[in-house]
Amino acid sequence: MVSDTRSSGPASGQASGQASAQANAQGSPLGLPGDEGSTRRAVRTMFSTVAPRYDFLNHFLSLGRDIAWRRAAARALKETLARPGSRVADLCCGTGDLSFCLGRHSQGVVMGADFCHPMLAIARGKAGAHAPGIHFLEADALHLPFGDASLDAVASAFGFRNLANYRLGIEEMGRVLKRGGRIAILEFSHVRGVIFAPLFRFYFHRILPRVGKLISGVDGPYQYLPVSVAQFPGQEELAQRLSDAGFRNVSYVNFTGGVAALHMGEKK
Ligand SMILES: C[S@@+](CC[C@H](N)C(=O)[O-])C[C@H]1O[C@@H](n2cnc3c(N)ncnc32)[C@H](O)[C@@H]1O
Repeated sequence: MVSDTRSSGPASGQASGQASAQANAQGSPLGLPGDEGSTRRAVRTMFSTVAPRYDFLNHFLSLGRDIAWRRAAARALKETLARPGSRVADLCCGTGDLSFCLGRHSQGVVMGADFCHPMLAIARGKAGAHAPGIHFLEADALHLPFGDASLDAVASAFGFRNLANYRLGIEEMGRVLKRGGRIAILEFSHVRGVIFAPLFRFYFHRILPRVGKLISGVDGPYQYLPVSVAQFPGQEELAQRLSDAGFRNVSYVNFTGGVAALHMGEKK
């Protein structure tokens, strides 16, 4: 599953070249350019329409790999979670799957936050049966209802890419983290490999949107997915942005040839 691990210093030549085309990405391409309010509304509406089919499509279209990726992200925060009283937030939690993974390691409090009510309703329904200790709250990741330096870790799975402004998203995560607190961002990323990369691109750009539309019954979300990943900062670029924002010990690990990557760091 894991193809390589790297610690970031300054972005390397090859990777920064890969990232340069993405360097202008301020946030999700949805909504009107430069209008963050319209991006938020468009993202929220899109996830509201897909919510009932979201879990099934996620697992189906990733052949179940998304489950392993979220588990790996939670394991990466195991030490923090295992501290009695630890406070950890899963941002853009959607239907709650990362929150549940975090909850399995937690000796403290896990909170899932999302601004899309239909996604949260599903998360709460699932928690009722399996994880009553996890708190789900309706909140915007760019304006979190947590105090400064109040959390031990923040994590996000496949949510960060949808923010209207990545820089503000990183800053807000930094604001709520305690000194030494940990950040973990799991996102789709840039695939590598001379054979795997073109094959994956064909699947991601040609097959996935069609199958997604067929099953979800809506056009937008699975067209948006490859577009938003293509403009999202690559592995090195995102690592660099975290370092620039003041995180230390920034590193990332690729999953499944870079289909997804987990970025980690600590607040200075
Ligand atoms: C692709 S889903 C990911 C859900 C979940 N984390 C997972 O692992 O499957 C993206 C989620 O991010 C949420 N989201 C996007 N922008 C947000 C924001 N600014 N604040 C809160 N939630 C946001 C959406 O509502 C959606 O539920």
